[in-house]
Amino acid sequence: MSLHSTSHLEVRRLTYADLPIVTAIERRSFVTPWSLAMFVLELSKPSGICLAAVRDDQLVGYLVCSRYDTVWHVMNVSVDPEHRRNGIASELLGRLVSSVPSPETAQFTLEVRESNHGAMALYAALGFREAGVRRRYYQDNGEDARIMWRTPATRRGALDDVPGIEVGAPGVRAR
Ligand SMILES: CC(C)(COP(=O)(O)OP(=O)(O)OC[C@H]1O[C@@H](n2cnc3c(N)ncnc32)[C@H](O)[C@@H]1OP(=O)(O)O)[C@@H](O)C(=O)NCCC(=O)NCCS
Repeated sequence: MSLHSTSHLEVRRLTYADLPIVTAIERRSFVTPWSLAMFVLELSKPSGICLAAVRDDQLVGYLVCSRYDTVWHVMNVSVDPEHRRNGIASELLGRLVSSVPSPETAQFTLEVRESNHGAMALYAALGFREAGVRRRYYQDNGEDARIMWRTPATRRGALDDVPGIEVGAPGVRAR
């Protein structure tokens, strides 16, 4: 167990004041990072849930989730590289799942680069299952996205309540 993992982790709402550190982590985490304006747009949506993970007064991770009709779309999850593998993303996703109305029946979806095996393992451990592919979704290298869902069915190992793969977030930017 690392030193980091022994100190208290607070999860709270993400705010506009957090965005300078968020965009700094974002640039260290993604080949094509979101801009400040994209985070501002997501934070401005009243139906979304945006969370910050804070350890020792330092923001160490964040999660952005939008609601499209009845489906929760996880748009962004990232953890400061120096704080990874300490359960922070798991804590953020767990808090998201417990924050939505009717958590037992809620449906969550996301896209993940097919080469991002670490993220896929994280999501699978939390009940997400692969259910489709978006071909050449990522414009920087033409990589496919794996579509993952977390629903009551995926949590019991089935896919029978997963909506068709065209259900998703219109206008979600590939990266
Ligand atoms: C993916 C990411 C968010 C994971 O954050 P994290 O806080 O390190 O994740 P956790 O510590 O909660 O990991 C939980 C489990 O997920 C799996 N996992 C997470 N990262 C992994 C990795 N790099 N390789 C293999 N498995 C991994 C492991 O099973 C891990 O449990 P373990 O540490 O006990 O083995 C982080 O690596 C990151 O910010 N990456 C860059 C941005 C990114 O790819 N975001 C996801 C976009 S879809």
